[in-house]
Amino acid sequence: MTTIFAHRGSAGTHPENTMESFLAAEAFGADGIELDVHLTLDGEIAVIHDTTVDRTTDGTGRVVDFTMQELKKFKANYHYKHFFKKTARIPSLREVFEWMEGNKLICNIELKNNDIPYEGLEEKVIALIKEFNYEERIIISSFNHYSLVYIVNNWPEIETAPLYSDLLYKPWEYARCLGSKGIHPKFKYISDSIIKATMDEGIAVRPYTVNKERDIKRLLQINCSAIITDFPEKAVKLRRK
Ligand code: G3P
Ligand code: CA
Repeated sequence: MTTIFAHRGSAGTHPENTMESFLAAEAFGADGIELDVHLTLDGEIAVIHDTTVDRTTDGTGRVVDFTMQELKKFKANYHYKHFFKKTARIPSLREVFEWMEGNKLICNIELKNNDIPYEGLEEKVIALIKEFNYEERIIISSFNHYSLVYIVNNWPEIETAPLYSDLLYKPWEYARCLGSKGIHPKFKYISDSIIKATMDEGIAVRPYTVNKERDIKRLLQINCSAIITDFPEKAVKLRRK
């Protein structure tokens, strides 16, 4: 059965990468959530997509120049204010993990270390995974494939998957080179035949970000390993049919 990952939570209906968005994903019946992480000034792991807070909050500036406590002052629902009244905040990865103790969701952590190569990000994320014993519930992805190889070499028990937005002829060979058991391709760049061939080679395929009904249906029909979507409610309903 195709696993449904809620991209940045239920980002199509709730403020992305907030607890409200993750709670909605759980309520909609998603199997997992996808989220993005950066390091803060005081070495905490913040859950936010961009390098800066500008697009998603009422603040301005780089995430790395604020402490976690300072980041908490920004309204993460700022651009949703007309239809989402509750004030949402930027969560830390620890908060998300604490919430996961009450459910069985899988968590795909995307390391946003391709623009800023955060020193020690991998160590901090792995330490938190181990503290919560979440080795079986986490997939780490990144566009920074060096970072994934670093993780595989040091913590082979942690599952990794490269993100890419390009055409790859034999993605399973690339995944094996990296030591990954899955791939996270941009869905427009992967055909049904390459998805099937990759899965036949024992490599999981989790395309992103699949939002249109016809695309979700197409991937469900070929029993793709997983899909990453902003609309988990829609995807779960289509899977039930
Ligand atoms: O997990 C796939 C997707 O999240 C990668 O792109 O920019 O939405 O983080 P982006
Ligand atoms: Ca992401």
